[in-house]
Amino acid sequence: MSEDKNRYGQTTGHVWDETLAELTNPPPKWWMLGLHASWILVVLYSLYYPTWPLISSHTKGLAGWTSISEFKKDMKEVEDVRAKYENKLPGMTAAAILADNELKNYVVRSAKVLFGDNCAACHGSGGAGNPGFPALVDDDWLYGGTIENIEQSIAMGRKGMMPKMGGAQLTDEEIDKLANAIYNGTVTKEPLYAAKGCIGCHGPDGKGMAALGSANLTDKIWRFKSKDQLASIKYTIKHGVNDPSDPKTRNAEMPSWKGRLTDTQIKKLAVYVHQLGGGQ
Ligand code: HEC
Ligand code: HEC
Repeated sequence: MSEDKNRYGQTTGHVWDETLAELTNPPPKWWMLGLHASWILVVLYSLYYPTWPLISSHTKGLAGWTSISEFKKDMKEVEDVRAKYENKLPGMTAAAILADNELKNYVVRSAKVLFGDNCAACHGSGGAGNPGFPALVDDDWLYGGTIENIEQSIAMGRKGMMPKMGGAQLTDEEIDKLANAIYNGTVTKEPLYAAKGCIGCHGPDGKGMAALGSANLTDKIWRFKSKDQLASIKYTIKHGVNDPSDPKTRNAEMPSWKGRLTDTQIKKLAVYVHQLGGGQ
């Protein structure tokens, strides 16, 4: 094939359609340099890092790098940071953790997952509460809001008892009167409150007693929340709470976590719940 020249350079001599010629100019220098640099890079990379598949394994590379070892190294860094705090926790009371700002911040962060895994199903995400399960974000506590109270609630579990008051104890009319007074926050002024023995558990001021877990009946924060709150109050009075003699009684049981979670995990959760809202 004869080589031909046109004004753009060397051509293959082939002409299509009278004017179209194919040039044989070499590619520009910068392009060739790039081409060689890229294969050199491939060779160096494949020597350094694991690259080529073999029959049952792969080339290991001179660097000895694996994604697993990198992951383990990262994890170790995290563990080292954690260990600084974790090693202190077993020897400390929950109250002492609470008093140490740095430790408290660490514990609150690490307990968030624990709470999500073990508690949120009943108490709602972030402890906001669910129908039948008390909110943990407010400062209204059935069993008291000190760090010790909260730790005990978690470790030992809780099960409040209120006998059913419907039937022999109270007529429907009396239940209506008491329920309305509670709904309006004025129950201690209702004579039936003392006469029918509510006062023995809910206290002379109507604010409940932490030792019994009897709800505060004056603050309009509802332990058994409902869209129709007045009806819910009547229901509680009529059927009680955890009263085995009434099949319609309200069930309210906080399971015990001792033995299911470690003491340190329980401490962490107590600190977490305490700072959620109104720990005292
Ligand atoms: C199966 C449902 C359930 C689970 C799971 C559960 N709780 Fe409870 N919790 C309850 C109920 C019900 C009560 C109220 C008990 C009562 O009324 O006597 C309660 C009460 C409490 C109280 C006392 C609240 C107060 O007002 O004094 C605290 C604190 C608490 N739970 C924390 C937790 C933590 C932390 C977890 C996770 C480890 C958890 N709970 C898991 C059902 C549950
Ligand atoms: C033996 C003790 C006891 C007696 C007596 C008692 N209660 Fe209760 N009551 C409780 C306890 C404990 C709770 C909380 C149960 C729980 O949350 O686990 C409660 C809860 C309630 C609630 C639910 C409050 C809410 O926020 O949803 C109402 C309403 C109530 N009681 C009204 C009464 C009235 C009215 C009387 C008198 C007729 C009475 N109680 C007598 C122990 C008692």
